[in-house]
Amino acid sequence: MIRSVVRGIGSALPRRIMKNAEFEGMVETSDEWIVQRTGIRQRHIAAEDETTASLGEAAARAALAHAGLTPDDIDLIVLATSTPNNTFPATAVEIQNRLGMHHGFAFDMQAVCSGFVYAVTTADTYIRCGLSRRALVIGSETFSRLLDWDDRSTCVLFGDGAGAIVLEAGEGEGTIADRGVLAAALRSDGQHKEKLYVDGGVSTTGTVGHLKMEGREVFKHAVGMITDVIEATFAQAGITAEDLDWFVPHQANKRIIDASAKKLGIAEEKVVITVDRHGNTSAASVPLALSVAVADGRIKRGDLVLLEAMGGGFTWGAVLLRW
Ligand code: ACO
Repeated sequence: MIRSVVRGIGSALPRRIMKNAEFEGMVETSDEWIVQRTGIRQRHIAAEDETTASLGEAAARAALAHAGLTPDDIDLIVLATSTPNNTFPATAVEIQNRLGMHHGFAFDMQAVCSGFVYAVTTADTYIRCGLSRRALVIGSETFSRLLDWDDRSTCVLFGDGAGAIVLEAGEGEGTIADRGVLAAALRSDGQHKEKLYVDGGVSTTGTVGHLKMEGREVFKHAVGMITDVIEATFAQAGITAEDLDWFVPHQANKRIIDASAKKLGIAEEKVVITVDRHGNTSAASVPLALSVAVADGRIKRGDLVLLEAMGGGFTWGAVLLRW
């Protein structure tokens, strides 16, 4: 049975770190408020020369180096982003060109903060049906370009960055002992659009627009939606929370992460948290957090890892994999 196995991982962050205190001179807020309500202490903000494509390329190169591969070994790139370099062509194709790749195929996937979970599921499907042998799955975002820097309720929450994994076709016995992607659940529901959206677009205003969010409303729905898709992956794989080695959730808000882990019965020491240093980097948050936990030696080969995300749309989803 074909399984999509993670072969390498990498990440990239903009040079500039912006600490909470810097907001104090811009809007009416405080480091204390931001830390207490969100867990965020700092985020990276992209300079003009740092784009979704350049950060995505850097993360992809790091993942290839970690895997001991070159772009020649890749035949598919799926880029999860809501902040593409251009309306078209797809930024994935730009990254493909930056990598000097002129074979295979590449496309963008837009599911906002759930983008990486959607992209892993998509690449896994392409690999299992034989359309790809080895894929780069990237989450790269420059959400700082979408922010209204006068709106204290949103501008303090987000950051920029990118993470990438190499997924390749491997063999498995069809059990949860296999390495690779074991289960996945994806959901969306457009009735919640007004709670989290960008008020611009090519076909409507002709502008890029700004991020708008009813934070309390998003919070209200988040925990139930997250636990729903996670329980669906547990049921598919026939496991319980106790079987997990690591929970790597979308990094939007530490309170949402803590509440979800508690509801699911996932022990605190199994939860990977990076929202304190990266803020919410949308589709980049899960691969960035994974990358940190692999680099510091927490996530090791053979570990059972649960990925989860929820975001604009609403979209939400979970992926269970053995590292
Ligand atoms: N500094 C100081 N005060 C603030 C700030 C700020 N940066 N932002 C809002 N406030 C004020 C509000 O104006 C409000 O004041 P009021 O009571 O006088 O009206 C007060 O703080 C409380 O506001 P709430 O919105 O109720 O605060 P809450 O505790 O809900 O925290 C937050 C707000 C952090 C946005 C929270 O609701 C949240 O995290 N929601 C989920 C958001 C999220 O996860 N989004 C991302 C998911 S999808 C994606 O990643 C794209």
